[in-house]
Amino acid sequence: MLRIGIIIGSTRPGRKGEVVARWALGIAKQRNDAEFELVDIKDYELPLLDEPMPPSMGQYTHEHTRRWSATIASFDAYVFVTPEYNHGIAGALKNAIDFLYGEWVNKAAGFIAYGGASGTRAVEQLRLVMAELQVATVRAQVGLSLFTDFKDFSVFEPSRGQSNSVNALLDQVIAWGGALKTLRDTEAQRDDANRY
Ligand SMILES: Cc1cc2nc3c(=O)[nH]c(=O)nc-3n(C[C@H](O)[C@H](O)[C@H](O)COP(=O)(O)O)c2cc1C
Repeated sequence: MLRIGIIIGSTRPGRKGEVVARWALGIAKQRNDAEFELVDIKDYELPLLDEPMPPSMGQYTHEHTRRWSATIASFDAYVFVTPEYNHGIAGALKNAIDFLYGEWVNKAAGFIAYGGASGTRAVEQLRLVMAELQVATVRAQVGLSLFTDFKDFSVFEPSRGQSNSVNALLDQVIAWGGALKTLRDTEAQRDDANRY
């Protein structure tokens, strides 16, 4: 079964990211076409990138990197739950992404964003970052507005139809995640064959 990580893209105390991610996980868990797990970058206590070698070499010297690497490697696709900070993504998320390389390659990703302008600019930035990591990003995305999906800009109360948007997003993430898993499996078989 395809494994999909729902990554919480903010770490600050009082963040809205966690409630949004748990809502998305609840919707995802009603499906039976993939397995879903929450990934909280806060749990990994990553410092600012402190590996001496470029992540594309995969030579990690720190336990925190190896732990983060094992988690991200275990998924076939990702759903990033991201706020918009100054028209981009949170520094903590960019740092966590930058720690790794090969673990992301040939996977799929979709985005659930929130903010004054529904987090749209953060998603656009994230799509560029994902392109460099060879992650296929799906077109469908979920945009949650601080004006209409949060009561008094604070309490998360998603408007009607947003759960359908999550399912539309997951449909595409699962389709692309499955296709890319086939690609990775084929490449692994070819590499094995070339070894002999
Ligand atoms: C540092 C910072 C910068 C922000 N910049 C923007 C912004 O550029 N556009 C926007 O729509 N909202 C912006 N916001 C509002 C956030 O989208 C909103 O506070 C959201 O809840 C932050 O996500 P979090 O609660 O998970 O940390 C900003 C918030 C913070 C803390």
